[in-house]
Amino acid sequence: MWRVAAPLVVLCVAATTLAPVSSCKQQDPVTTRPAPSSRPAAPLVAITGNEKGFIRPCGCSKPALGGIHRRAHALAELRHGGRSVEAISCGNLVTEGGRQQEVKLETFLLALADMNYAALVPGPGEFLLGLPVLRDMRMLAPFPWVLANVEATELGLVPSVRLESAGVTVVGLIGKLGLATGVKVKPAATSLAEMFPTLPKGRILVVFNGPDEEAAGIAAAIPVDRRHETDLLVPGHADAPGYLEPRNPATRIFVAGSKGRNIALWTPSLNKYEGLRLEESRPGTETMDALLDRYRTTVREELLATKIGRLPSVQKYVGDQRCIECHDDIHAKLKPTPHQRAFATLVDTKDEADPECAKCHVTGWGVESGYVDATTTPQHRDVNCESCHGPGSDHVEAMAKTPGGKVTTSSCQRCHDADNSPTFDFKKYWPKIEHK
Ligand code: HEC
Ligand code: HEC
Ligand code: HEC
Ligand code: HEC
Repeated sequence: MWRVAAPLVVLCVAATTLAPVSSCKQQDPVTTRPAPSSRPAAPLVAITGNEKGFIRPCGCSKPALGGIHRRAHALAELRHGGRSVEAISCGNLVTEGGRQQEVKLETFLLALADMNYAALVPGPGEFLLGLPVLRDMRMLAPFPWVLANVEATELGLVPSVRLESAGVTVVGLIGKLGLATGVKVKPAATSLAEMFPTLPKGRILVVFNGPDEEAAGIAAAIPVDRRHETDLLVPGHADAPGYLEPRNPATRIFVAGSKGRNIALWTPSLNKYEGLRLEESRPGTETMDALLDRYRTTVREELLATKIGRLPSVQKYVGDQRCIECHDDIHAKLKPTPHQRAFATLVDTKDEADPECAKCHVTGWGVESGYVDATTTPQHRDVNCESCHGPGSDHVEAMAKTPGGKVTTSSCQRCHDADNSPTFDFKKYWPKIEHK
């Protein structure tokens, strides 16, 4: 019943082992030969989840890891040569509500379907979009959606799913959900204890989409005589897959990694759990690149960047041209610096219409007199004088003090945050744009 993925062009010749990325050369598909088959490798379960909306890395800092395009490439490589790789998602593909997140979830689901996922355990993030939206998207992802402790008939949820080739039964559970979601959730540990006797003997993977702190309670609900064959997966907040500490002595508890930077690879027969980092050098696939383009087009056509809330401000953003009138020396000095190319950077990656990108690559985001779009407010493209010094209308007209006050490290960190500029250090960055 699962949809068969469209054939992907596999660019790396690698049969049963992962080719090191450096040896992964672009090849003409016609001349690509499968590597000679060796002993079939043990079936693998590929686990992803906790993307938190990172459908692709922003590219603000290097290395720019992850993205659905690299994931698809890695899965195709793992499956090349016929190895069984069942992929499951433990949800939280998105973790906010709103139209852009809907477009993202839709893109994610189409991507998972194309990558032939075997199951999705929806997380609290998905439910933030609301049941009607999820119901409408259900058919985009025709594989089982697994949750044992939620009743939502419109989503056709199943309590567990069997991954035949891996010999594993996956059980899905979710933690408490906010009242606003309108979804009734039974306590996860109770549901698990109740259903365990009905589960087939053999390997079980319990995916619990709830807080790490509750993991031990879930583990305790696993019958003692079944613990040796049961693993517990909680999404966790760590970037990379690994074990949750402190390790529960009776049950292996692992986390899936986050932001789509890794794929967790689990070989049940070998009790092996490791992360595969989706390196920057890994190419995408045609299908995923097309899906990402479709995502960008939708965001652009729905004018999402212009639909953000804008606060009124007493002082108005006037644009660099006004500052140049009196500070042309400073402007000339700053012209060649990266802040003045910030918008062009987004145009190059076709992300300039994406509000999640534009907000730090323009001036006066979210303020009425600030940036709206490239044609309405061309003067506010890039990171201009008023990004740091604040809206300058009074200064320009009445020589009042610029309203931003003293520019400090925290003015920079509004944009140079841990995700987008992890190497930011005022002492090293400021000299590159100093203009006293
Ligand atoms: C929170 C603010 C913020 C957001 C949101 C943001 N950026 Fe950036 N971006 C930055 C900063 C700051 C830098 C410079 C980082 C550094 O050099 O330390 C940067 C750098 C970049 C660069 C590298 C430019 C170069 O020439 O080296 C690219 C590409 C980029 N961003 C694209 C994007 C895209 C695409 C998005 C949306 C998916 C995005 N950015 C969202 C703040 C942001
Ligand atoms: C009509 C001329 C004029 C214009 C236009 C102008 N400035 Fe100024 N600015 C001055 C003068 C004069 C000073 C005070 C002397 C100095 O420090 O250069 C000053 C000082 C400043 C200072 C130092 C701190 C302060 O607020 O006094 C900053 C920052 C500044 N200007 C930023 C800007 C920005 C940003 C713009 C554009 C929005 C701008 N200026 C436009 C003339 C101008
Ligand atoms: C409105 C958001 C924003 C603010 C505020 C901001 N920056 Fe940036 N900064 C960016 C973006 C975006 C880039 C990347 C531009 C590009 O190359 O496309 C960047 C790039 C830079 C770079 C170049 C990094 C490199 O090595 O390539 C330096 C240096 C820098 N910023 C310093 C600062 C300092 C210092 C402050 C505070 C005084 C600051 N920035 C405030 C958004 C911002
Ligand atoms: C990335 C942030 C940033 C941008 C963009 C920026 N400045 Fe500044 N500017 C600063 C910082 C930081 C200082 C020094 C600290 C301070 O005095 O607030 C400063 C200092 C100044 C001063 C001197 C203030 C003094 O105390 O003597 C002037 C004038 C000025 N900037 C004008 C401009 C003009 C004009 C532009 C645009 C062409 C501009 N700045 C763009 C961050 C920025």
